[in-house]
Amino acid sequence: MPVTEGLREDDPGCVLLGRALAGVDAEGLLLVHCGDLPGLRGRAVRLILDVREAVGARARTIRADDAGAIATLGPMRHAAVWPRAHLGKDFSFACLAIGARALGPDGVLWCCVRKSKGAESLADFMVALLGNVDTVGRDSGYRLLRSVRESVFDEAVAREAIELRHTIVDEALPGVILQSAPGVFSRRALDDGTRALLEHVAAWSVTTQVQPNAVIDLCAGLGPLGIWAARRFPEACVLAVESNVVAARLATDNAAGAGVGARLHVVLHDGLPATSPFAGVQLGGVDLALVNPPTHAAQDELLALLGGLRPWMAPGGSAFAVVSRPGVSTRGLEAAGASVSEHRVGGYSILHAVWPG
Ligand SMILES: C[S@@+](CC[C@H](N)C(=O)[O-])C[C@H]1O[C@@H](n2cnc3c(N)ncnc32)[C@H](O)[C@@H]1O
Repeated sequence: MPVTEGLREDDPGCVLLGRALAGVDAEGLLLVHCGDLPGLRGRAVRLILDVREAVGARARTIRADDAGAIATLGPMRHAAVWPRAHLGKDFSFACLAIGARALGPDGVLWCCVRKSKGAESLADFMVALLGNVDTVGRDSGYRLLRSVRESVFDEAVAREAIELRHTIVDEALPGVILQSAPGVFSRRALDDGTRALLEHVAAWSVTTQVQPNAVIDLCAGLGPLGIWAARRFPEACVLAVESNVVAARLATDNAAGAGVGARLHVVLHDGLPATSPFAGVQLGGVDLALVNPPTHAAQDELLALLGGLRPWMAPGGSAFAVVSRPGVSTRGLEAAGASVSEHRVGGYSILHAVWPG
């Protein structure tokens, strides 16, 4: 997920929302996973999904996994939602439900959505929550939707959207049940790229008989790669790194549920940290790293993420990354000091990076 997605102030959707809310007292405004809107007076409250969104935020930020703070929000005068379509409709529904629930009497729920990205179903959902919706603006394919919290608010509809959870069971992860939620990568099923990577590394580990002591799961999401490694290598400690606050919390719970919570530590961080937060995985001592990097990351982001492996890898250590287009990732791993070979698996490239021994 590019952190700027849905958060760019010059995006026509944000401009429409900003125009509608320009001049309102931001003290009574909840920004539900959209960026800081231009032209506001005062300080809004803004929910953030990724730790990188807190950097430079003008609003007072609340993390999406802070259910206590979210439940006690309000009463707000306005709540604004800019759906991040790539995270799925259930996340947009949860955002609308959080916004509607936080409103006081006559408070207004705003949603700016591309017509082609499900404007109709989001409008229907606003009706289900608040009993009314109007289209009050249009620009560059966007619809600006507006509902008012009059006498109707369906708490049951809101709760169902906010508390929705998924479970993932996959034969590539025998005996593991992953808990998942709206707002995270591949929330309903194991990603095909993740499965391809797991199968490839499983076969490699049988052939080579490796027994790594220290493993990194970079861009861990719900934790499937790190959990697999902790189960496959019973002596290994795993450091899982993830910037999405909901995913990081789920990864921690999933590791505990899979019986490897003591050996798998999740760190909520933008890329690999400069120092180790976990005694079992130290800089310069990592034998194995597994990476399913963010698909839409900008080149420099991807290079920085993979470059971060350099100080962590042990001499002779291996990293495996699954990608659709190998160019930038290969360069990133080479720049991190490794020799890289590519293996085609289905529609994916599995990059195997080896650091000199
Ligand atoms: C393609 S998903 C892979 C998730 C998981 N490893 C899997 O296989 O299902 C990439 C993950 O990287 C995370 N991510 C993106 N940029 C990041 C960054 N700068 N630091 C840490 N995690 C990041 C995203 O939030 C997302 O969960």
